[in-house]
Amino acid sequence: MRARLKEPWELNVMRSSGGRLAEVVALLREAIAPGVTTGDLDGLAEAAIRERGGIPSFKGYKPGDVVYPATICASPNEAVVHGIPNAVPLVDGDIISVDVGLIYGGYHSDCAFTAVVGEGDPEVRHLLDVTERSMYEGIASATPGNRIGDIGHSIQSFVEPHGFGIVQEYVGHGIGRLLHEPPSVPNYGKARSGQLLKPGMCIAIEPMITMGSHHTKTLDDGWTVVTVDGSLAAHFEHTVAITPRGPEILTMLDANRPKA
Ligand code: MF3
Ligand code: CO
Repeated sequence: MRARLKEPWELNVMRSSGGRLAEVVALLREAIAPGVTTGDLDGLAEAAIRERGGIPSFKGYKPGDVVYPATICASPNEAVVHGIPNAVPLVDGDIISVDVGLIYGGYHSDCAFTAVVGEGDPEVRHLLDVTERSMYEGIASATPGNRIGDIGHSIQSFVEPHGFGIVQEYVGHGIGRLLHEPPSVPNYGKARSGQLLKPGMCIAIEPMITMGSHHTKTLDDGWTVVTVDGSLAAHFEHTVAITPRGPEILTMLDANRPKA
């Protein structure tokens, strides 16, 4: 399916939505420490979203038979995505992937990051670094005139030399009035293939990268997606608008934006 292009006024609401989410993400990053539970992070996220006039978008989300029960997804260690927050304290050396989304003014934004609790092994920090950088490689390819496949191709060609796995069962997506809109945005692909990128498209770019097998399975809770081999996984995500001047990251704090 084709993406419906956003009008300029809609892009402005998307900017307001993404800016609020960027603030929530910054608070979540600061809160991660040994002893903190993912349930604590969930409470913090919901309060921060509501304080900003937003609505948590994952809570009550029901793609199939099961309703998602929380504001954030918190996926520790071998969990890739969709982990449900709980009362287990984080411990030094854990990695934790946090995914959070909100609706503001009727428009969604979606953002994720993986953090190490404490110092972490160099190997683990490398996985996180490669995953985050691969997201920015994908974002850099999100320019008018390029195609969806160019985004995936950039991510894939950046990640593969490091020997890490690229999860294929889950992909990025268009975003706007709905959390998931067309088109799908895979984290692998062929250059010059797929739908043409045009100004006014908004997409979530979200590589999920593993230290071992790229295959995943879902736990009995119906949500938590883990690597089949128990290898560690990382996930980074930004909501991005395609503009005539190139990609605009909507879920980034102004202070962190590259200076023009
Ligand atoms: N951020 C996820 C995505 O990009 C959505 C979380 S699914 C939910 O698809 F069920 F947790 F809401
Ligand atoms: Co997403």
